[in-house]
Amino acid sequence: MSQIQTVVEWIRSSKKTIVLTGAGMSTESGVPDFRSASGWWTKTDPQQVATVDAIESNYPLFHEFYSMRINLLDKCSPHEGHYILANWEKRGILQHIATQNVDGFHSKAGNTQVEELHGSIYTFRCHSCGRSASKEAFLAKEHCAHCQGNLRPNVVLFGEMLPERAWHNALLNIQSADLVIVIGTSLEVYPVNQLPKMTKGKKVYINKEIAHHSTYFDCIIEGRAKEVLINLQERLEKNY
Ligand code: APR
Repeated sequence: MSQIQTVVEWIRSSKKTIVLTGAGMSTESGVPDFRSASGWWTKTDPQQVATVDAIESNYPLFHEFYSMRINLLDKCSPHEGHYILANWEKRGILQHIATQNVDGFHSKAGNTQVEELHGSIYTFRCHSCGRSASKEAFLAKEHCAHCQGNLRPNVVLFGEMLPERAWHNALLNIQSADLVIVIGTSLEVYPVNQLPKMTKGKKVYINKEIAHHSTYFDCIIEGRAKEVLINLQERLEKNY
């Protein structure tokens, strides 16, 4: 039985299926990932743009980087793979999504049970006083209306804590899942890369490049997220 068919059988028999995604889930929407040959971190040093030190010591570079990402994202939209996951949620095939992505594409595609573990690039706050701010004010490089502090998107920067409620929910869901499907992540970043190991259920890894540290998965499918999800969907539709 092919790996795809094995996963179809596991999806069918699972009462609680969780999907964990990373940047590879959105590359077929035209959004670069981070560590692939065309990824952000091959062109930009993450220490210079995605740390607390970056926002505090070189705000112009920080602002330029996130403005560029926001402007690019505004031209992109969810692909068929995102819509398949939304359809699975509606049909009770999928219960929750935990994502490292800040693009909001899962929610845009219709998923309602989404934990954004690395925050969102579409909501903003003052880095100093924490008051919320608008996208327009951030892009216009305005300062906080209350304390004149620097504005930033609500993404989790390296060295910052993950949003507590999102992490807690994702952990509980994954621990009690029958099936965890990990899609489009290098599993390089802690603590999210530990989540798949915390489930009692079956673990599936779908990725374009198979990470060397993925040996603990029960099934590995080397492929592109959208293509593999379309294939799974087609077979799920057929009573194999
Ligand atoms: N389908 C499947 N896998 C893909 C696709 C695709 N279309 N495109 C890329 N990939 C794979 C790449 O081979 C790579 O292994 O997705 C993975 C993306 O890994 P990273 O670029 O490391 O992204 P991610 O794992 O989400 O990074 C985690 O790191 O930089 C921080 O905060 C950022 O949330 C991000 C975190």
